[in-house]
Amino acid sequence: MGADAFRFDGKRALVVGGASGMGAATARLVQELGAEVVVMDFAEVTLPGLRAISLDLRDRSSIEAAVDACGGPIDALFSCAGAADGTPGIEKINFIGHRHLIDCALDGGLLPRGSAIGMISSAAGLGWEPHLELLEEYLATPDFDGAVAWIAAHPDKATYMWSKQAMCAYVARSSVSMMKRGIRINAILPGPTDTPLAQANADLWLGFGADFRAETGLEPSTSEEQAHALAFLCSPAASYVNGITLVTDGGYYGAGLSGAFPAATPVVRYLLGR
Ligand SMILES: NC(=O)c1ccc[n+]([C@@H]2O[C@H](COP(=O)([O-])OP(=O)(O)OC[C@H]3O[C@@H](n4cnc5c(N)ncnc54)[C@H](O)[C@@H]3O)[C@@H](O)[C@H]2O)c1
Repeated sequence: MGADAFRFDGKRALVVGGASGMGAATARLVQELGAEVVVMDFAEVTLPGLRAISLDLRDRSSIEAAVDACGGPIDALFSCAGAADGTPGIEKINFIGHRHLIDCALDGGLLPRGSAIGMISSAAGLGWEPHLELLEEYLATPDFDGAVAWIAAHPDKATYMWSKQAMCAYVARSSVSMMKRGIRINAILPGPTDTPLAQANADLWLGFGADFRAETGLEPSTSEEQAHALAFLCSPAASYVNGITLVTDGGYYGAGLSGAFPAATPVVRYLLGR
């Protein structure tokens, strides 16, 4: 296939949360790479040349109706929508709704062999491994309502960090069941990325790692930089990449983990729960 392995010619892509930020950049990119693109979002979709379907990830019936309206095949499913702490229903927007949408697509036979799922978690989801036991209990909830009930019983877990850790654990754990169906699943874990969501939480989100960026000459990531990594993961070029949570943070995590940038080390240790 050569360089064509990075393309999406003849494929149909669904971008959940494609109205804005990284989702919109992903929709534009895979369209340019040859895909027919469907975008689902709560917000109005203004990108030209694609089909838009209204979706509220907080509402189970909205998800089911959107998947019905989308139909198949879905060769690449990008789970991009997300919200910040303080948003009511964050656990549904950031994880439960995405999982239900994927389950509906699987049940409907919409994800053919050879398809791929690419999710946007976050550097905030990095430290999922030490919490695996409790995450497994959460992930064992069979459906949307079960997961909502679990969060109701664990209200301290209705957070951005938990939702992103859950997504990382879900990706890693789903790699077997998905691969048996010929489907790959991966996620990116972006660091600070200049999007409307990050601008709305600028002190916390764009302030994170500012010392590292000053040291290395980096700016916050662009949405396009994250879209490149996400599109790669769902392209045939990544055909042997599965169950991976790819840290796309400009090197902050590795620098903190290894001590190459000592100021990041306590932050990384905190994220890892050490
Ligand atoms: N920007 C960052 O610094 C950063 C860093 C790490 C991870 N992330 C993650 O990246 C993803 C994309 O975020 P972004 O920064 O591009 O923000 P964004 O606000 O530009 O995009 C998020 C999209 O999600 C949609 N959305 C929100 N609530 C929804 C709902 N209930 N139903 C359907 N769609 C809904 C929004 O309408 C929007 O189009 C999110 O999952 C976010 O958590 C962002």
